[in-house]
Parts: sequence; structure tokens; C-alpha cells
Amino acid sequence: MTTTAEHSASAAGAPPATVAGLMAGIAGTGTDPARGGYTRPVFSTAEQDLRAWFTEQSELRGLAVETDANGIVWAWWDVPGASGPRARDNAVVTGSHLDSVPGGGAFDGPLGVASALVAIDILRARGHAPVRPLAIAVFPEEEGSRFGVACLGSRLLAGAIDPDRARRLRDPDGNTFADVSAAHGLDPNRLGPDTAALARIGQFVELHVEQGRGLIDLNRPVALGSSILGHGRWRLRLTGQGNHAGTTLTEDRRDPMVAAAACISAVRAVALRRRNVRATVGRIVPVPGGTNVIASAVDLWIDVRHPDDAVTAAAVADIGHEARMAAAGEGCGMELIEESLSPTTHFDTGLRDALAALLPGAPVLDTGAGHDAGVLAARVPTAMLFVRNPTGVSHSPEEHVEDDDAEAGALALADVLAGLG
Ligand code: GLV
Ligand code: MN
Ligand code: MN
Ligand code: MN
Repeated sequence: MTTTAEHSASAAGAPPATVAGLMAGIAGTGTDPARGGYTRPVFSTAEQDLRAWFTEQSELRGLAVETDANGIVWAWWDVPGASGPRARDNAVVTGSHLDSVPGGGAFDGPLGVASALVAIDILRARGHAPVRPLAIAVFPEEEGSRFGVACLGSRLLAGAIDPDRARRLRDPDGNTFADVSAAHGLDPNRLGPDTAALARIGQFVELHVEQGRGLIDLNRPVALGSSILGHGRWRLRLTGQGNHAGTTLTEDRRDPMVAAAACISAVRAVALRRRNVRATVGRIVPVPGGTNVIASAVDLWIDVRHPDDAVTAAAVADIGHEARMAAAGEGCGMELIEESLSPTTHFDTGLRDALAALLPGAPVLDTGAGHDAGVLAARVPTAMLFVRNPTGVSHSPEEHVEDDDAEAGALALADVLAGLG
């Protein structure tokens, strides 16, 4: 996957690699012809290939690569001459993720990783000598696309999910996270809070493609992050009577698919009741899922977001009420189960002020997208940089970043890393 050009570009004394060049090196990994874009679930061949690429690129730059007990990959630029158990304390850490949603864009995750590698090159080319250790971290299952809980790696690290619950999470094929992580070299019994790894992070800065239109409207390439909207995921299970599509009269049915249709409409109606509520049904799974079978059950996943956590809670309560009525109208049962909940996160203002001084005039934006930075922000001073996405579309193959903006992002990240470390 690494081209000769990339090797020579990042060799000692050579000019920095470009973000566009690094991204081109992984453009063929995890493409999804059926959906379009990329499908790179955690621990899939595509995601593992990207991890191998990251390791190779890091080692090429002389970084020391290690994978921790939660499957987070760390690439370290150590302070010259520093040694001993505390040599990596108070590190400046950047990074992002390499997994994707189904049929996602090229940049959500990998842009932050490629930009971090280029930022290291820029610092090297400037002759930067780190006085604090610097690391790139790559987090597993940021999207929660396979096991259902977003930011699973950073949640485990930060103690924001019970490891027993994490071990029991199942992918759509029924495999547990414990089994799949064991098959990829992790010890399931060691998953969980890692106070030593967390204590090494002095500050965390994640660069990410912007997932909305903020920078388009401002006509700027790079912004600082201010906050992440509170968000959560709920599974709505509707249960009815599985039966034959040809022999069961319409009036005799208890069809959870009909209740599901009413629930999807209700989710939209509830979202419109309060300003700025974002509520989505993006995944629906009928059981058993046959064309000539009336479903016995349907699972719908509902994603709800709002800057005020009380409004999110009220919207979810309303959705539960509407769903109960829709289910009852069809003679079905219903259960609404919270799968994850992340409160609204405001990034550390002191760190943001420091970044603003390093990137004078950079605009400040909030985001409705979740990030590992949001999880880490509860434990360590955290900041984000966003890079303009000229389509304003994300979690879609249409997500895009222009080459010049990508390089501007890496340069901004280099300035931040140099300024902090
Ligand atoms: C992840 O990108 C999310 O915001 O759901
Ligand atoms: Mn992301
Ligand atoms: Mn995403
Ligand atoms: Mn995300």
C-alpha cells in the first residue's frame, strides 16, 4: 500500500509527505462497490490493513509503535535521551480512527491519522526537538458500526463503559466483542480502564474532517472545535406475530413492520417539536426478514442529538410514548433500550485559548458528530481541529476534502503540536 514515492518523501532529510499522497496510498482499501464509498468495520480486513499501513508509516518515521490492552495503537516520538517508566508522561497526543460507517467517506477518521503523520514530517523538517513526548493514537470502533457503541476504544480507555458490557457486545453476525478482539490478539480480560495510558496524555488534539457546512459558510479551511452535541443511541424492539404472508388476513395480523413505519414517522414528528433536535432511524432489522414472511420482531436503532441533554432526554421520552402507542395500535409489544449516551461536551477552554493563540484568526465551531475527543475530554484537556468539507456531506461517499485544505490542516496541526510540545 505504501508507494516508493511515499517512502522517499518521508525519509530523513526529505520534504514532508503530503496528506493527499498518504490518502491516495489507502484509497483502494475497504472500498464498497455495492454501497459506494468505504466500509471498514473494526477488525475487518480493511481496518486491519489500515492499521498495518499506519504502523508501517509510523516506523518509517522512526516512531515507536505499540498496541495497548484496548486495541488502541500508539506511535511515539520520544523526547531524545528520556528513559524510564515516566519518559512518556505528559505527552501531547493527536490521532483519530481508521474504522468507518457502512458506505462512508474517505476522510472521516483517516484524515486525522494521515494529517498527524504529515505534521510529524513538518516538525522534523523544521528541526523540531520535542521537549514533551508526542504520540499519534488510533482508536478502534469509533463509529460503533460493528458492535453498536461508538468510541468503544476510547470509552474503554477512559472507563466510560463497563468492560463486562463491552465484552458482551455483539456484531450483526452474533460474534461477541470479547471473541473478536481475542481473535485479533487482545486479551478480553484486560479490556477496560487504563489509568496508566490515560495518565500519560497531557493534552489530546484530534483533527477531523468537518461533517457539516460551518467552514463552507465561513469560507475558511480550518476551525477549532468548541463542543460536541450530546447524543445517544437507542434500540427500539417491536414484537408481533410472525406468520405466513399469503394465508394471514390483513385484519388478523400483528405486524411489527407496520408499527415500525409509524414509529419512524413519530421520530421525525418528535424531532420537529423542539428546535434543533436531530433524530434519525438509520437502521432497521426485521426478524426473520423474509419477503413472504410477516415479521415476528423488528429492531430499529434511533440516534438522538441536542446541545441540551435535558431536551435529548425529553425527546427520547416522547419517542418512547409514541412508539408504545404505535405498537399497541398494531397489537405489538415494544421495548426501548438505551445503548449509549454521551452528554454534551465542551472542550477545555484553556487548551482552546492556547490553540487560538497558535492559529490566530481560526474560527471556532461546534459539531453534531461524536468523536473520541469527546470521550477523552471528560478525563484530559482536549481540543479539536476541523478541516473544510466542500460538500458539507459526511457518513456518505460524497464527503470530501480539497488537497490544499488537507495540507492547511496538517500545517495547523504541526503548529499546534510544536506550540504545545
Ligand atoms: C460518529 O461519527 C457519530 O457522530 O455518530
Ligand atoms: Mn470520525
Ligand atoms: Mn463518523
Ligand atoms: Mn465520529
